Amino acid sequence: MIKKNLDVLFDAEEIKIRIEALGEEIASNEPNDLLIVVILKGSFVFAADLIRAIQKAGIFARVDFITLSSYGDGTESAGAVRIIHDLSEDVRGQTVLLVDDILESGRTISFARNLMRDRKAKHVKTCLLLDKPGKRVLDIEADYLGFEIDDRFVVGYGLDLANQYRGLPFIGSVKDC
Ligand code: IMP
Ligand code: MG
Repeated sequence: MIKKNLDVLFDAEEIKIRIEALGEEIASNEPNDLLIVVILKGSFVFAADLIRAIQKAGIFARVDFITLSSYGDGTESAGAVRIIHDLSEDVRGQTVLLVDDILESGRTISFARNLMRDRKAKHVKTCLLLDKPGKRVLDIEADYLGFEIDDRFVVGYGLDLANQYRGLPFIGSVKDC
């Protein structure tokens, strides 16, 4: 375990309140047969809370998972996005809600959105926990967003640095990288 100094950006209570609100927003705009596509690994904690918030707000959603990779073990995106594990469901004709942890360059979510469109999903929406607009390369915005943050590397609540820190209950900014 590489121990880093962390500043808490959003604590567990702030995250919980924001996700409850996101669940209500999604449930009031999206249809009942929504297919949530969770982009792994970073969004598994967020997605687990989000799907319960959506259910609580009155929508029944189905779920599937895709593992995409653009990062190596560092704090800068490597560029090209790859599919590590694909979906098990056919998205043709479905309303898909893509869920990811953080929008940075936009490459990951653009790749996923194009993939869903190529596979003939009926509607494709995006829900991101975090947005770092200062690092955007592609012209894409989240349809549903948790929090906007400055251009700094964050960990916790599913987000990692070299696959560590995902289990922290808060979102923290890494001071020394
Ligand atoms: P993008 O493709 O450049 O938009 O980056 C999105 C992906 O990079 C996310 O799915 C994350 O897995 C990862 N990422 C970007 N910024 C951070 C960060 O600050 N902490 C942890 N992972 C990050
Ligand atoms: Mg990641």
